[in-house]
Amino acid sequence: MTDFQAVILAAGKGTRMKSERAKVLHEVADLPMLGHVIDTAIASGAGLVTVVLGHQIDAVRHWLAGRYGDAISVAEQREQLGTGHAVWSAKEALKSGASKTLILSGDVPNLGVETLRAFVEASHGFDLSLITADVEDAGQYGRILRDGDAVVGIVEFKDATPAQRTIREINAGCYLVDSALLYQQLERLCAVAANNAANEYYLTDVVAAVTGSHKVFGYKIVNTAEIQGVNTRLDLAAAEAVAQERINRRWMLAGVTMHAPQTIRIGADVVLDEDVTLHPGVVLRGRTSIGRGCLIETGTVLDSAQLGQDVHVKPYCVVTDSPIGDNSVIGPFAHLRPDSIVGRGCKIGNFVETKNTTLADGAKASHLSYLGDATVGANANVGAGTITCNYDGKNKHRTTIGDGSFVGSNSALVAPVTIGSGAYVGAGSVITVDIPDGALGVARGRQKNIENWARRRRSSET
Ligand code: UD1
Ligand code: CA
Repeated sequence: MTDFQAVILAAGKGTRMKSERAKVLHEVADLPMLGHVIDTAIASGAGLVTVVLGHQIDAVRHWLAGRYGDAISVAEQREQLGTGHAVWSAKEALKSGASKTLILSGDVPNLGVETLRAFVEASHGFDLSLITADVEDAGQYGRILRDGDAVVGIVEFKDATPAQRTIREINAGCYLVDSALLYQQLERLCAVAANNAANEYYLTDVVAAVTGSHKVFGYKIVNTAEIQGVNTRLDLAAAEAVAQERINRRWMLAGVTMHAPQTIRIGADVVLDEDVTLHPGVVLRGRTSIGRGCLIETGTVLDSAQLGQDVHVKPYCVVTDSPIGDNSVIGPFAHLRPDSIVGRGCKIGNFVETKNTTLADGAKASHLSYLGDATVGANANVGAGTITCNYDGKNKHRTTIGDGSFVGSNSALVAPVTIGSGAYVGAGSVITVDIPDGALGVARGRQKNIENWARRRRSSET
């Protein structure tokens, strides 16, 4: 195994995105592009990972700290003077001891771990290697110059002659270089003014500088989708499509059934078990995890939801930051807001909204309810139209519904209030006082029937 570190270039402004947000924070598969590149670098074996930041450094640093803590080093490039200068900004890392340095771009989110590992393996014995590819439309990519088989340089599109522009082998912007050689070359490159069409210090110039004296290797790959850079929103949509196809393929091969997979969107951090079934239009985001045998029906959005085994989520549910226990049935049209903790064998039916509410095993709320800041006991039955009145205009209060209790339909439970275990609430009640265990609470106007009322009304009308 080669011992190497990674330097990821992410200081550029990304002008063509036309965005307030730093380019590398734009998301692909629900994860900022930079996250894909860092995760890939780590997974392919990079020891130290250094990210070069400049434009919107505070926003990017903040996001980095949230996801990686202090596991990632940051080098600042104050002025964006080119890719060579960007790597030079991380010169401390080049002296850190890793014999080789892998250079990646923060705007190339789909480069795969397998590809990188194979590249690092194949680069054994070379001082500088780079990934290249033959493409249909070489666009603005740097062109690979070869002398016979040997790579002898890279010419940037802006600087290329018409003949060079016809070259279809392009530079993917991914390099593995001997760290000491890289240090020495960049020190030289950045010592004098840049002299090219962009007036930038080109990292690509290092290739021509070392060819002849060192062993250079162009590693050509065939899957060009992996190396597409993102410069515009069109590129972002294309990268999203590539990422979704890769992610869906991975989960299908791991035992997930997908109906119409091209309509299903799964985030990079989602984890699925075998025999999960996903219907068309399902969206899985954040830190969602889904256990064996779960069925998620059409139009459902799960965002950091943790589902146990054999959970059935019927169509058009939204679940956010909430765990759901084995064998529970949710929906259709249920809304589980953050911190809804659903036990095993529960039922949450149509048009039920929950928030910061715990339902113990076997609890049911089958129709038209709002359960906020509540604790629902095991096997309790919350009738249709039950509302917890948790907010008094200033503060939120808790409702406790005891084990095995039965809340009649269309009840309002005015918190703070406790329904005892095994207790009953009469339908249509407004409950403001605790109900003891096993008691019946009824709080509604008593019905009175007026005999012959209809006949009298009719005669008064004639
Ligand atoms: C670069 C390569 C080109 C290659 C292409 C592949 C150079 C000179 N050209 O062109 O040969 O085909 O990538 O995608 O290297 N960055 C900084 N600081 C800077 C400039 C750039 O951190 O001063 C970062 C950017 O944020 C980006 C990466 O480096 O993540 C690449 O820069 P970009 O300007 O996109 O280079 P390309 O024109 O795509
Ligand atoms: Ca680019």
